[in-house]
Amino acid sequence: MAALTLHSVEATLQRLFIRAEGTTLRAEDRKKARELHALLPEMAPHLAPGRVLVDAAAGRASVGLMAQELLSPCDLVVIERAADRVRACREAAAQRANPSPVDVREADVADLAAWPEAPDLVVALHACGPASDHVIDAAAARRARRLLLIPCCVGAGVAFAATARAAVARWPVPRQSAVRLRLEHGLIDAWRTLRLEAAGYEVTVAPFVAPTVTPYNLVWRCRRVGQPDVMARAAAQLREIMSLGG
Ligand SMILES: C[S@@+](CC[C@H](N)C(=O)[O-])C[C@H]1O[C@@H](n2cnc3c(N)ncnc32)[C@H](O)[C@@H]1O
Repeated sequence: MAALTLHSVEATLQRLFIRAEGTTLRAEDRKKARELHALLPEMAPHLAPGRVLVDAAAGRASVGLMAQELLSPCDLVVIERAADRVRACREAAAQRANPSPVDVREADVADLAAWPEAPDLVVALHACGPASDHVIDAAAARRARRLLLIPCCVGAGVAFAATARAAVARWPVPRQSAVRLRLEHGLIDAWRTLRLEAAGYEVTVAPFVAPTVTPYNLVWRCRRVGQPDVMARAAAQLREIMSLGG
C-alpha cells in the first residue's frame, strides 16, 4: 500500500467522483476526504484479494471504492437504497484504475437478502437514523467478522428513541431540552453498544476525526469474538436498559 496522505485521498476522490474538467473539490468533498483519510488505515489490515467488504448505507460508496483503489483489491458489496446514489456509485466504479469485483445492490440495509454471508468487514459511515440499527442487526445475523459503524442523526425512527425519551422524563434532570437530548442520545449509544456486545462483538467506541470535521465523529469498532460471559452480561444489561422507559 502506498503512503496514504490527505493529498492522495483528495486526488483519488476527485478522479472517481468529481471528474469534470477544471472543477475542484467542494467543502463537503474535503470533509469526506478527511474522514476517509482517518478511516481507511483502520480498514487496511482486513482487506485482501478475495476478502469481502460491505459498504452499507453507502451513498455513492466513497468508502468502498476508495478502499479498493487505495488499499487493496477485495470483493466489494455496496448496499444503498437511493437510486440516484446507486447510479453515482456505478459511474464512479467505472473510473477505478485497479478494478476488482463490485456488486452494487439497490436495497434497504434492513433486507437480509441483500447481505453476503460472513463478510470480512462491514463499514457504515454516517448511517442515518435507524439505518445504523439495521446495520447492527444485519451484520450480526450475517456473522460479519468486523464492523466499523459511524452512526449519524438520531430521529424518531430509531426504535429505542421513545424509550430513551421516556426514561429521561422520569429522571431528576433539569428541563432544558439540550441537556435532556444529550442524555437521550447517550442512552441510544448505550443501547447500540449493548446490542453489539450481546451479539458477540468486542466493541470500542472513540472519535475517529475531530468534531470540527463532523459532529457525528464516533466510530464503533467491533470484532466478532463470541465470548459467552460478555454476551450474557450485555444481554442482561440490555433487558434492563430497555425497561427504563417504565
Ligand atoms: C448520510 S449518507 C452517508 C453515505 C455514505 N456512507 C457516506 O458517508 O458518504 C446516508 C446514506 O444512507 C442511505 N440510507 C439511509 N437509510 C438506508 C437504508 N435503510 N437502507 C439503505 N440505505 C440507506 C441514504 O440513502 C444515504 O445515501
